[in-house]
Amino acid sequence: MYKESITDPSAFWSAIASEFYWKKEWDPANIVQGNFDTTKGPISTSFFSGAQTNIAWNCLDAQISKGRGDTAAFVWEGNGLDENKTMSYSEVCSEVNKLANWLRNIGVKKGDRVIIYMPMIPELPISMLACARIGAVHGVVFAGFSAESLAQRIIDSEAKIILTCNAVLRGTKLLDLKSIVDSAIGLGGDGCRITHCLCVANERAVPFSESNFILERDFWWKETVEKMSSTCETEWVDAEDALFMLYTSGSTGKPKGVVHTTGGYMVYAATTTKYVFDLKPGDLFWCTADCGWITGHTYVTYGPLLNGATSLVFEGVPNYPDPGRCWEIVDKFGVQVFYTAPTLIRSLQREGDDYVKKYSRSSLRLLGTVGEPINPEAWKWYHKVVGNGKCPIVDTWWQTETGGHLITPLPAAFPSKPGSAALPFFGVEPVILNEQGKELLGECEGLLCIKSPWPSMMRTIYGDHPRYETAYFKPFPGYYFTGDGARRDKDGYYWITGRVDDVINVSGHRIGSAEVESALVSHSLCTEAAVVGIEHAIKGQGIYAYVTILDGVEYTMELKKELIACVRSTIGPFAAPDTIHWAPSLPKTRSGKILRRILRKIACKDDSLGDISTLADKGVVEELVRLRDV
Ligand code: WT7
Repeated sequence: MYKESITDPSAFWSAIASEFYWKKEWDPANIVQGNFDTTKGPISTSFFSGAQTNIAWNCLDAQISKGRGDTAAFVWEGNGLDENKTMSYSEVCSEVNKLANWLRNIGVKKGDRVIIYMPMIPELPISMLACARIGAVHGVVFAGFSAESLAQRIIDSEAKIILTCNAVLRGTKLLDLKSIVDSAIGLGGDGCRITHCLCVANERAVPFSESNFILERDFWWKETVEKMSSTCETEWVDAEDALFMLYTSGSTGKPKGVVHTTGGYMVYAATTTKYVFDLKPGDLFWCTADCGWITGHTYVTYGPLLNGATSLVFEGVPNYPDPGRCWEIVDKFGVQVFYTAPTLIRSLQREGDDYVKKYSRSSLRLLGTVGEPINPEAWKWYHKVVGNGKCPIVDTWWQTETGGHLITPLPAAFPSKPGSAALPFFGVEPVILNEQGKELLGECEGLLCIKSPWPSMMRTIYGDHPRYETAYFKPFPGYYFTGDGARRDKDGYYWITGRVDDVINVSGHRIGSAEVESALVSHSLCTEAAVVGIEHAIKGQGIYAYVTILDGVEYTMELKKELIACVRSTIGPFAAPDTIHWAPSLPKTRSGKILRRILRKIACKDDSLGDISTLADKGVVEELVRLRDV
């Protein structure tokens, strides 16, 4: 199949696409188009051009018409042990239609952006599907982002509608989401165009009578959406119409609004879910990612439903009430396929095997990992202890930009190697380039690029196509540049070595060092900051921040705490630096460029600093080493 997918992508993808419902067929002469070379014109990709479809229809109505109306679409497990609910495909379809009708009633049209800021409650994937139903473009913002980050995304997306929830309990922590939304709208000032805020009342966290409510702008879901009709006319959209946008961090500047379109994304999300997770109708799949990230889009919401499977949505945290929670859930519902991030595997491994062995986990047949390179020790523990040695592991490499898995094992189809994401998925042509952009052959290590379009690749950055071209295609003309380094071994297996840019991967979350730096210097006493990623036993990478403070101001514990708080409130708690290192001055070249390579070495106590001849002032390094433990 792989061979066929590369030699004749049009035939390959159109045969698969024929299994979906299309209102209008594609133009057979134009199934796959792509240009990755800016010297030959604008970068563009299209799949199934001319066709019309609707992904919500394929996720819901198509399944119902195949007799799956009573099959569970979502099994929801709340934060508390006794909170859960199952929703059938028919029920989800009705709820999606009600919301779609409400959105349409207030004037939302095809192409309009809708921001979703919600915890992992069924209304989150339902909101995504309702937008899709009417052709609106959803922009989910992870509910761990601060008001400031949310405001930035509201402004950039030019959204007029936000869907949210008053509050949520995660573990023992109460998150007051509605207040964050209110401040984000306030912070947005004139740049914010929000006219309607629809709010789910999660009375398990805070009674709705105690939640902020702004007349004319705010609406309670249960007082409005619940009253709408449960049938809704589907908006048929073009295959290349936008389905959603999702912000992600790059090495420079503000987050990029990655835009995904409908047809190719649908086909690829479904196909990777089917083959990589070996998922069949009615199977119970649990992807632990939040819908605020791409993993939750493709493998909580769209992929499982497109396959008629059941997707488990978990609102809580894996260590509440204790670190056995995941396996308790697996046993309670009979989860067959479990997909998570290495950071979670490592943190549960540290808690000891007893929490795992207390549960049978006999329903599990396949395990997956994503988000960062998995160390072989964690891989082996996952395989031996969690999977009782009987479940294959799929280590899936992909990105927000790629929409779905690009390099991944196919379970049990070929031998796996702990720590390797194995081989390219159907239709994917990875290459490894050297710094000069030359393709390396055979066994090699270098920069990971992709040389031909695949169906679910991002099509643009919202409102900034030039930045799309500059960030992904200008570095190596003719190739999509992933930002990752990789090694290819003698069997053709890929080993991802991590980011080669200034993106830090903390617990599988991408954080741009430039964003953390700008959050730090927003503190009035911080004049300069340089942030690097360093190895972290649980999180994969931790954030290490060097800060220069105003001359004459004393560097105190208090100030250090304020600086960390500044990052938490500007970006979100998950981006808080692990270490703050006082730096009266930073190591720079004569032209003023910060030497991050040296900063990384000082941070990880590797004092073999290498070549420091480009340094303008060598004394700076000695001083930083001296101040390391201050
Ligand atoms: C970056 C993308 C879409 C997955 C969730 C994160 C790293 C992702 C792997 C893996 C090694 C991985 C890469 C990539 N990454 N999966 N299996 N092995 N590294 O999506 O936030 O867009 O981050 O995550 O560095 O570029 P994202």
